[in-house]
Amino acid sequence: MEPTPGSFLLQPPVFHPVLPYMTTIFGGLYHGKQILVQGMVLSDAERFQVDFQCGCSTQPGADIAFHFNPRFHSSPHVICNTLEDGKWQSEKKCPKLPLKAGDHFQLLFRFERECIKVSVSGHHFVEYTHRLPLERVDTLGISGDVAVKVIGFINSNPFAEDKTGYPICQPLLWKSQSLTVPYTCRLTDGLKLGQMITVRGLVAKSPEELVLTLNTDAGDVPLKLSACFKEQALRCNSFLGRTWELEEKLKLAFSIFYPERFVEILLLCEAKAFKVAINGFPLGEYCPSNLDLKLVSVLQISGDIELYSVHF
Ligand code: GAL
Repeated sequence: MEPTPGSFLLQPPVFHPVLPYMTTIFGGLYHGKQILVQGMVLSDAERFQVDFQCGCSTQPGADIAFHFNPRFHSSPHVICNTLEDGKWQSEKKCPKLPLKAGDHFQLLFRFERECIKVSVSGHHFVEYTHRLPLERVDTLGISGDVAVKVIGFINSNPFAEDKTGYPICQPLLWKSQSLTVPYTCRLTDGLKLGQMITVRGLVAKSPEELVLTLNTDAGDVPLKLSACFKEQALRCNSFLGRTWELEEKLKLAFSIFYPERFVEILLLCEAKAFKVAINGFPLGEYCPSNLDLKLVSVLQISGDIELYSVHF
């Protein structure tokens, strides 16, 4: 997808929405976009539904491109279908839903060119070929016997395009003690080639800076990534053998940091470089001298952000 100023803005996650819930999907759907729904099936549940629809009209009712409808009255199964011009098309019945009343779950909807893939709690569950054009879908509705904890809107991952295997999305946590900023995490086995660090969170109201560092036990800092909100600048630097290297500024096509906006930082570890992407867009790479990924032992994040997930 070509970056546009609008596509840099990611829709913030919605925590504990009251059901029935309906929202516009900012920027619509496109190849690679993922929507995450974390929640719990109510204890006496009969059914719930997640609808990806074309608008939100009620009279006449909006077309529903993808109706994902877990049912629990007999053995748990899912009915997938499309509603067009007020008529349901032929149902696709998916037996063996690995969920029952009372269970916590994570549903990940991944939108591809030809189909939608759904995973349930990390395992691929169903693939549904588009029956209506994906570009028409702009609204998400969730209703029924379910308590939703989080709805997350995740952009495509530029570093995972050629990766096979089912994409996994880390749960998003709200006001979690373990994600308090300043945040420090020990990496017991260092970093590995091809490893990806993903940081997601909400930028504060009047932000000044956001700093992410990777440190070694010897006191080196192979990467200091700092975002200055006022200047809209993203800088990389490293501290090696008691001195700071020459700072490098990453080129930004558009302003990418906004107050009270969801932000996702991806760092891909390569043999001699860290590749950086923000909100799904690659911004370049930083090559510290003598990078030894195994020696990186601590990840630290500080600044004006509320963290929702950190994963590596
Ligand atoms: C109908 C049901 C609708 C929808 C549809 C899917 O029987 O009333 O809510 O789930 O099946 O095919």
